[in-house]
This record gives sequence, C-alpha cells and structure tokens, in this order.
Amino acid sequence: MSRAQIEGILAAAESNLQRAQGLVPRGQSLGDKIIANMFFEDSTRTRCSFETATFRLGGQVLNLTATGSSAAKGESLLDTALNVEAMGVAAIVVRCAISGGAKLLADACKCPVINAGDGRHEHPTQGLLDLATVRESLGTVAGKTLVIVGDITNSRVARSALHGLVALGADVRLVGPPTLVSRAFEAITPSRPGQVRVMYDFDEALEGADGVMMLRVQLERAAGAAISSDYHELYGLTRERFARLAPHAVVMHPGPMNRGVEIDDAVADDPTRSRILRQVTWGVAVRMAVLEHSLRCD
Ligand code: CP
Repeated sequence: MSRAQIEGILAAAESNLQRAQGLVPRGQSLGDKIIANMFFEDSTRTRCSFETATFRLGGQVLNLTATGSSAAKGESLLDTALNVEAMGVAAIVVRCAISGGAKLLADACKCPVINAGDGRHEHPTQGLLDLATVRESLGTVAGKTLVIVGDITNSRVARSALHGLVALGADVRLVGPPTLVSRAFEAITPSRPGQVRVMYDFDEALEGADGVMMLRVQLERAAGAAISSDYHELYGLTRERFARLAPHAVVMHPGPMNRGVEIDDAVADDPTRSRILRQVTWGVAVRMAVLEHSLRCD
C-alpha cells in the first residue's frame, strides 16, 4: 500500500471508531452481505475483530476453521475458498500458515480476499491498526522513532508494521538476537538511508525512542529453539527498561503476550502508556474500514 492508500484507510478507521466500540448504532453499509472468515490458524483478536467489524457494518459472518471443516480431510486452502465463494459470499478473510496463501486465493477468486495473516509473510490489518495506535498516541507517525523487538525474521506483524511505519515517515529500529534479526532488513525496505536500523543492543535502541513494539516469541514457528535462556534479560521489556524510557513513550504488543518472557506484567498493564488494549479497539475500526474499502461501500 502507498502512503496515500494507508492514510485513506486510517482516516476511514478514525471515522469508524465510535461505531467500532458500540457507542453508536450499527451501520448498514454491508447490507446483509456475508463475509467468510477462513481461519486456518488460531486467532483471538483478528478473527473476533473481523467478526465484530462485520456485525457493526450490518453484515453477516460465515466462520470456517481447520478443525471441523473438510480441511481436516485434506481439502486444500484454494478448493475451500472456491467452494465458499460459490455459496455467494461477498468477501473472504483468510488466515493461513502458507506465506503467500492470501495472494493465491486473491488470484483465483472473484470476490475480494483480505489477508488476516499468511505464514511468516504479512499481517496487513495488524500493521494498519499499529499505525492508527501510534498516530493517536503520539499525534503523528512521521519523524517518530519506533523500536520493534523480538523475533523479526519469523514475524508477519513486524513485516507489515515496518512497511507502514516507513511509508508514513517514521524511523524504525529492529532489535533482537542475531539469530532472529538479519541485517538484510536494512537493505530490503525501500527507505531513506538510516531510516531502518538493525540493532542487537536493546538498551541502546531504546535511547530516544517514542514507542516500543514488543513481539511474541513464536514458539509454534520453531523460534523458541532459537532463543537463549537469557532472552528476557537481553530483550525483555522489563520494569527497569520501561522506567528509563522517555515519559511520553508508549508500549505496544500485537498479542498474545508471553508475560515474563518478552514483557513484564507491570509494563503490559501500565494504565496509561501501555496501548496494547487500545490496539485491539483500533483493530475493529481498521477492519471495518478495510471491509468497506474492499467491498467499495465506503
Ligand atoms: N495480533 C494477532 O494477530 O492476534 P491473534 O493471533 O489473536 O489474531
């Protein structure tokens, strides 16, 4: 997405924020359209917020998961999507373990396909909700310094956040153990020189930071084997590190959190500077905007 496209979605999300929280009556822009939620990997926030977003816009949800569907009998992701589309759904939201899985479906289906996280590749609506949260918390994204910490290599969240932050003009520091953060990230992102920095010293990276985005150590992607027993000491956002941050700096995490591993309880639960639950609220507003945009009813 270009900067203009991102800003368009963020503006729409902002106008949806009251409705996303149920503070104004549900709209009817989806007009009883059915949205298929195909979640072939576990999810709490993304699946529930797409379902909430659809409800708030007057649509209906068809939920499909790997267990309990014919995927368990070996039916492919693509065949499943084509069969669901043949039932007349207006759009498909897909989460899958295959990097590129959403693109595969988008190329084959006539209806819009929305990526809810594909393997280690991208999680675009997470990236958008992260941007919305940064913008609300800091007033702007441009010129701010955001530190993304953890399992960058295996993180679709980091890839989407990185793209969005760079597009909107933030400086980004990618931090983690060398096994999980490659210097190649500095070269592969189209950005001005120095805009994206890979750093291995978390304390150094926190100097002058406006926000810290902690990532979950993804044990299901074998990253657990790549981290050492001193991970919390070296890369955890501890109460002590949090105390050294600038007073305005905020903390984010896409969830689910490994409390005591990448983030301490006192930081995650800080009543003002932890924006973790606010990210979830923005998730509904952003997904409403994405649904309306995809279905051309915004
Ligand atoms: N942030 C995120 O994608 O959370 P879920 O896996 O619970 O959807």
